[in-house]
Amino acid sequence: KPEKPTNNTTKQSSWVSPDWLTSLAQSLSIGKDDSSIPIANAKLEDVSELLGGALFLPLFKWMQEYGPIYRLAAGPRNFVVVSDPAIAKHVLRNYGKYAKGLVAEVSEFLFGSGFAIAEGQLWTVRRRAVVPSLHKTYLSVIVDRVFCKCAERLVEKLKTNALNGSAVNMEENFSQLTLDVIGLALFNYNFDSLTTDSPINALCKIIPRQIKAEKAVTLIRKTVEELINKCKEIVESEGERINEEEYVNETDPSILRFLLASREEVSSIQLRDDLLSMLVAGHETTGSVLTWTAYLLSKDPSSLSKAQEEVDRVLQGRSPTYEDIKNLKFLTRCINESLRLYPHPPVLLRRAQVADVLPGNYKVNPGQDIMISVYNIHHSPQEGDNLKSNPHYFLRLCLGQSMKCLYQKDLTWMVQCLMKRILDFRFIPFSGGPRKCIGDQFALLEAIVALAIFVQHMDFELVPDQNISMTTGATIHTEHGLYMKVSQRQTKSAFAASSSSSR
Ligand code: HEM
Repeated sequence: KPEKPTNNTTKQSSWVSPDWLTSLAQSLSIGKDDSSIPIANAKLEDVSELLGGALFLPLFKWMQEYGPIYRLAAGPRNFVVVSDPAIAKHVLRNYGKYAKGLVAEVSEFLFGSGFAIAEGQLWTVRRRAVVPSLHKTYLSVIVDRVFCKCAERLVEKLKTNALNGSAVNMEENFSQLTLDVIGLALFNYNFDSLTTDSPINALCKIIPRQIKAEKAVTLIRKTVEELINKCKEIVESEGERINEEEYVNETDPSILRFLLASREEVSSIQLRDDLLSMLVAGHETTGSVLTWTAYLLSKDPSSLSKAQEEVDRVLQGRSPTYEDIKNLKFLTRCINESLRLYPHPPVLLRRAQVADVLPGNYKVNPGQDIMISVYNIHHSPQEGDNLKSNPHYFLRLCLGQSMKCLYQKDLTWMVQCLMKRILDFRFIPFSGGPRKCIGDQFALLEAIVALAIFVQHMDFELVPDQNISMTTGATIHTEHGLYMKVSQRQTKSAFAASSSSSR
């Protein structure tokens, strides 16, 4: 981003745009390009929107004007913006030809050599080492011991707001919930951010906003290093080794424990960076999914009632287990629809490593930056038509995909293939190809459990007349928070009964 004007900049009256904005707007190219990709003719107000942070909104406007592929030139950089599922598929699948590029450059200060931004052999080796830790037994243990417990703590906290009638910022609460979850699931560390305000929580909050906060990074790295060392000592002293495919340590089911017990050859620094990548990738994303799903439900009371009826019927007042999730179908559909409307991140970045020809015969040169607008793909007019003609069309497709992820064993191979063919990169909230999110099942389970427990115990409505505008960092989030009035539901629940008897 260009520097904002300092005090010695010429004073301007309020209706005149500042110099830095004007010069950036002028640097946006206009005209025809020799590679036949249309060039976006950006206007001043679009640039201001870009710099304001909601980058995906002008990208959508330009898609409507220039089509599913166009070139956006801003200053020395130019991006090919892709909103077509077939081109997105080509870029995301051809991992060797396209690297993470800009996204790796800007997040290296935080991720270090973490595999979320690594390339080549390092990425292959580390991804292969980490993925087995997210097996089915781990997920089922984590549902009970982490997802449910943290969501129940959130509900307990919200009861105070319900009693005193104060408005509550649900975006902040969901962000705290998902930080607590990921800390426990990754390294059995309780950030306890729902109930305390330790400095590490405050620092975690600013990290997804990509503020280069060196102090924050140092503190977080130090904390993770200490956790690794402590866990290493325990694993060594107990001589622990993985003895089965779906190994889970009873007292500490964390991913760190699994990775150390697997005795892979890996340095502590690499392990630290891998875990930090997962902390950042898994925290704000799931928090934002919960925020926008709650927002959508609050705008649609009949869907909220339907979700509550389903939860009451399936759970009968208790918290969900892993086995219950497949019966929470409507709730799953709500989350998938929220992921379609508000994908996190809304744009994926890649950089061409070699010359290539994209579907449609568009040539790209080595070094070309590419933005895949997941937001545009998910909001494409074609899908809009399908939605109009059959309101359940897209939801069914989404449901199919999430069911495929969660219950592969229950679906026949043919149904899976069919779903894949129908979707074919039209719904990519977790990206696609070899660098697809490794935490997709974890995140879906976490979101379903948290939402189930939230709607089971709480009624909620938006505080009227608030300005809920969108902006982006690593996710789509609100600019000023999402304020709601919450009230406790009059349902007899096992959780409520047990928490009152323990008082
Ligand atoms: C990668 C989305 C939750 C770990 C990604 C990517 C997307 C994504 C779109 C691919 C980025 C790209 O292609 O450039 C999401 C969403 C989540 C979520 C929407 C929540 C709803 C999680 C969780 C974890 C996680 C909970 C960890 C437990 C990762 C990692 C990568 C990744 C490590 C990098 C994979 C690689 O480069 O090989 N995620 N994610 N994510 N995600 Fe997630």
